[in-house]
Amino acid sequence: MPPSTALRRLADDLSARTFQSIAQLVYQHSRICLTADKRLLLANRLRARLVELGIESFDAYSALLASHEGSTEIDVLVDLVSINHTQFFREIGHFEYLTNHILPTLVPKLLATGAPLRLWSAAASSGEEPYTMAMVVAEYLREHPGLAWQIEASDISWRMLAAAEQAIYPAASVTAVPPVLLRRYFQRGLATRTGSYRIQQALRAQLHFERINLFQSHYPVAAEQQVIFCRNVMIYFDERSRLEAVQRLARHLAPGGYLVIGYSESLLGLTHGLTPVQQGIYQRT
Ligand SMILES: C[S@@+](CC[C@H](N)C(=O)[O-])C[C@H]1O[C@@H](n2cnc3c(N)ncnc32)[C@H](O)[C@@H]1O
Repeated sequence: MPPSTALRRLADDLSARTFQSIAQLVYQHSRICLTADKRLLLANRLRARLVELGIESFDAYSALLASHEGSTEIDVLVDLVSINHTQFFREIGHFEYLTNHILPTLVPKLLATGAPLRLWSAAASSGEEPYTMAMVVAEYLREHPGLAWQIEASDISWRMLAAAEQAIYPAASVTAVPPVLLRRYFQRGLATRTGSYRIQQALRAQLHFERINLFQSHYPVAAEQQVIFCRNVMIYFDERSRLEAVQRLARHLAPGGYLVIGYSESLLGLTHGLTPVQQGIYQRT
């Protein structure tokens, strides 16, 4: 059977009605919007999971999700449908702004008060974003030592968080890391790990990992974050959910703190009380 016919068959297996009820559950749980054109994508992503569970139809899978035993399966489902693409130094302008504007503004004030520097990567995926933040902060603090700092790294996906905590990356993933930082903050894999890189323990120790759904009732992170990166996740939410997430994240900022969103995202039309300072960067004034 040609691949296109096989794919069509998968889409046909997943009826529009079952797609709707699965998409509704995904939305209720994560606010990720699966529009009708994602039916084939969902069918493809679920196929292996159905085989793994020994379930023969999408309708039976939908019934499992709706049942009492299905409550943990929803986490797996969200994991399967979420887009986790990320990179070291992705949207580099944000890291340049961190180095050239945010840290020079915040660090002297924090050193004077003795308060720690707190940053949060709220859709951390497999860790490239929070480790890039960590490298940038560590580099800056080489010249301005003495400040305690920590990065919260959170995501809705347990699978992504586990990868982030493990912090092992293939050589192809680290090409955007400047060689000096690669030498300073990564260790090369040996034996079976040849060709891969692991973030060094000292840098890993600056991160704290937590599974956080941006729509859960309480965020278990310190209330006054100086910098929150929440990039390339709000594009998957509808306007109402974007508003809710942005308002809640804004309340987690310290006065003078910064919220950073993705280059292709916008807070246009949302009431958030933050002041735009640069593309994708907003400050609580
Ligand atoms: C495309 S990645 C973005 C990674 C990184 N911020 C970046 O810009 O490179 C989006 C991440 O958002 C996570 N995500 C989706 N819905 C979420 C939610 N409701 N709460 C927290 N994280 C969520 C996904 O699991 C995924 O890892």
